[in-house]
Amino acid sequence: MDSQTTYNYKVVRQFTVMTIVWGIVGMLVGVYIAAELVWPQLSFDLPWLSFGRLRPLHTNAVIFAFGGSALFATSYYVVQRTCQARLFSDKLAAFTFWGWTLVIISAAITLPLGITTSKEYAELEWPIDVLITVVWVSYAVVFFGTIMKRKVKHIYVANWFFGAFILTVAVLHLVNSAALPVSLFKSYSVYPGAIDAMVQWWYGHNAVGFFLTAGFLGMMYYFIPKQANRPVYSYRLSVVHFWALISTYMWAGPHHLHYTALPVWAQSLGMVFSLILLAPSWGGMINGMMTLSGAWHKLRDDPILKFLIVSLSFYGMSTFEGPMMAIKTVNALSHYTDWTIGHVHSGALGWVAMVSIGSIYFLVPKLFGREQMYSIRLIDWHFWMATIGVVLYIVAMWIAGIMQGLMWRAINDDGTLTYSFVESLQAMYPYYFVRFLGGALFLSGMLLMAWNVAKTISGSRPEDAPVPQTA
Ligand code: HEM
Ligand code: HEM
Repeated sequence: MDSQTTYNYKVVRQFTVMTIVWGIVGMLVGVYIAAELVWPQLSFDLPWLSFGRLRPLHTNAVIFAFGGSALFATSYYVVQRTCQARLFSDKLAAFTFWGWTLVIISAAITLPLGITTSKEYAELEWPIDVLITVVWVSYAVVFFGTIMKRKVKHIYVANWFFGAFILTVAVLHLVNSAALPVSLFKSYSVYPGAIDAMVQWWYGHNAVGFFLTAGFLGMMYYFIPKQANRPVYSYRLSVVHFWALISTYMWAGPHHLHYTALPVWAQSLGMVFSLILLAPSWGGMINGMMTLSGAWHKLRDDPILKFLIVSLSFYGMSTFEGPMMAIKTVNALSHYTDWTIGHVHSGALGWVAMVSIGSIYFLVPKLFGREQMYSIRLIDWHFWMATIGVVLYIVAMWIAGIMQGLMWRAINDDGTLTYSFVESLQAMYPYYFVRFLGGALFLSGMLLMAWNVAKTISGSRPEDAPVPQTA
């Protein structure tokens, strides 16, 4: 029997294709709201096209639909390959695919209609939250059930990261979404005032740490060694990396609430743990990068490896920037500004999207029984479009953010503000335009990927395959 029949590749194929589809949808909405910030008339005075409603649609689509599908696809593939066992239950796995799709469609309908809990990254109303819980428990059963029936004694480190991601997201979702429903589409959080804010950002930061980081580190630990054809640089470091990362992330949430009603000691705790977080984050990044030691030349002509390794550089960059922004005096300048948005996207586009893209280019030929991707040249094009796109985005936001922070705090000799808010907004136009260009470039790269993947799936002869000899 070959791997196509030994393992359940069907659900992996479904999630893989949907990663690309949702990536394009989510980023398209991202580009649209970026355009709205340059040309506000693009909302056409329609409530469901307004920035306020499309923004959560963007964040939900890119994090949970695009990122979520990438995580489902890769975790289901990796757990089967490294445990040498078929998924615990094909039916339950199929349920997670259709259930997750239903969650995404419900989000895409309710958010533009303005149905929201207003908790960031947890906007979906309670009936959808219940569905998420059922799907997530099924996911946990499929994943850990597969680990239980593994044919090798050892549990490979990538599975530790995927497992931590699945368990922690379950806890985060259950605690933060606790609410009292008053109607089918309206509920109120069970937590009052500052406690609600604290719980929300304990959730929010760990959503970054576990949804947007731990699972993607699982990808890194499997796909980089595979694509580079070398063992992980240090297995011992990967174990230290795991425990240090998961035990530190939990405490850093209050850095989102500096100078608020939260007790000062809690803010300081968040700051200190954020600074400590630099160490495990960089430990993991170095472990991934050094996997290439002695084989750096592979980066020259392997664009899939370029995606994977450059994603780690962005991971290193955003996990250096994050701890700096968590220092209270730095946060006094950066908070509320576009610097935060720049930081978010160096993590989200540079790290999350690029490591997913690299992993999917690795997966597609294997899942569909092809030798290689249809066009390696187009992957290289995609790599450069994505990299230039991210750089345009984040550099524009750094400049915009620091400018905003400085303009808002500038004071004249008589104590009045030097700039009005509108003046600071006007100063943003060029940078918002550059961000729009960067986003559009990144999105175009995704379209190129969709075409390349479609050609690969349809079995087109690879572009650089030797031309068959005619008589
Ligand atoms: C060592 C790791 C990190 C630390 C200590 C950290 C720290 C921070 C800080 C201080 C803020 C600004 C909070 C504010 O002023 O409102 C922030 C915002 C944010 N970071 Fe990070 N960050 C880290 C890594 C990452 C990574 C890797 C990602 C993405 C993959 C990410 C995604 C976000 C998001 C989405 C926000 C915005 C939250 C919001 O206000 O909606 N962070 N982070
Ligand atoms: C073509 C690519 C993208 C573009 C053009 C884009 C654009 C935007 C824009 C314009 C905003 C609103 C900023 C504001 O409120 O001032 C935003 C917010 C956000 N985006 Fe994206 N985005 C893209 C891709 C992504 C991806 C792939 C992810 C995650 C994997 C992501 C995660 C987020 C998050 C978490 C926020 C909220 C940040 C915060 O509240 O601090 N974006 N994006």
